[in-house]
Amino acid sequence: MYLITGATGNVGGELTRALIAAGEPVRALVRRAGAAVPEGAEPVVGDLNRPESLTGALRGVRGIFLLPGYDDMPGMLARAGEAGVRHVVLLSGGSAALEDMGNAVSRYMTLSERAVRASGLAWTFLRARAFMSNALRWLPQLREGDVVRVPFPGVRAACVDPFDIAAVAARALTGDGHDGRVHELTGPESLLPAEQVAVLARVLGRDLRFVGLSDEEARAYLEARMPREYVDAFFGFNVDGTLDESRVHPDVERILGRPARTFDQWATTHATAFA
Ligand SMILES: NC(=O)c1ccc[n+]([C@@H]2O[C@H](COP(=O)([O-])OP(=O)(O)OC[C@H]3O[C@@H](n4cnc5c(N)ncnc54)[C@H](OP(=O)(O)O)[C@@H]3O)[C@@H](O)[C@H]2O)c1
Repeated sequence: MYLITGATGNVGGELTRALIAAGEPVRALVRRAGAAVPEGAEPVVGDLNRPESLTGALRGVRGIFLLPGYDDMPGMLARAGEAGVRHVVLLSGGSAALEDMGNAVSRYMTLSERAVRASGLAWTFLRARAFMSNALRWLPQLREGDVVRVPFPGVRAACVDPFDIAAVAARALTGDGHDGRVHELTGPESLLPAEQVAVLARVLGRDLRFVGLSDEEARAYLEARMPREYVDAFFGFNVDGTLDESRVHPDVERILGRPARTFDQWATTHATAFA
């Protein structure tokens, strides 16, 4: 049995579908009873911030796909070990490598990786770069009109399709050779936000206009959407330049034996979400 956290989200949803398609038994962690999970998964209620709520979810589990950044990762992992879990595949990010405790995002990624390393369980880290699904954050603007305002317009990212992260996670959970490995997960090309918007415009058949926000505008835009410490973290990465996510890594193609999916493919697959 595999326990998938974030099963209602971008990566966990794709992973749940991938494992079910491969005939594997999947338990999907949800916070609310009745939450929709992919067909064929066994929903189980629990909260990653409350390890004591996970007892039932962990029973009989061999491998976990784990999201980072919850309140008591060591406590959660200790329960997993007691329940007989053998392997943790942790979704992490490029900023884990910085080990920057003054940056809220790098800190939670780093502490999550450290907790997994210290747990005594076998582990695999998936250091995913910016998700292609972050483009869904433009949905409210796209419902209003054809102008897309985006922070940090000069910052390139080798953004990765959650489908590919999930495909690698499925290999890591079910296959050999991934224990103690850190996989750097990117897409096949490095794009500017304006290039992503241009792809979206073509796929959707819309005349979208890209507007790059100034740093001052970006701060106001982000502060309306996330806590201040995360806004500061993204300013650290993108304005101070502490993180470079533009480099394309070969890991997705090496592990999956096919090229990483492009932003064009992601946009085409998800076009109906923008309708
Ligand atoms: N976006 C990026 O560019 C990026 C890059 C690298 C790493 N990451 C990491 O990837 C993670 C997952 O991203 P995603 O896009 O797949 O997820 P997502 O679509 O944003 O969904 C978040 C998932 O986490 C679940 N969740 C939230 N709080 C929880 C809790 N206390 N206990 C149990 N489950 C909880 C949610 O469940 P509910 O349905 O109950 O809300 C949902 O399934 C992010 O949180 C981030 O740490 C993101």
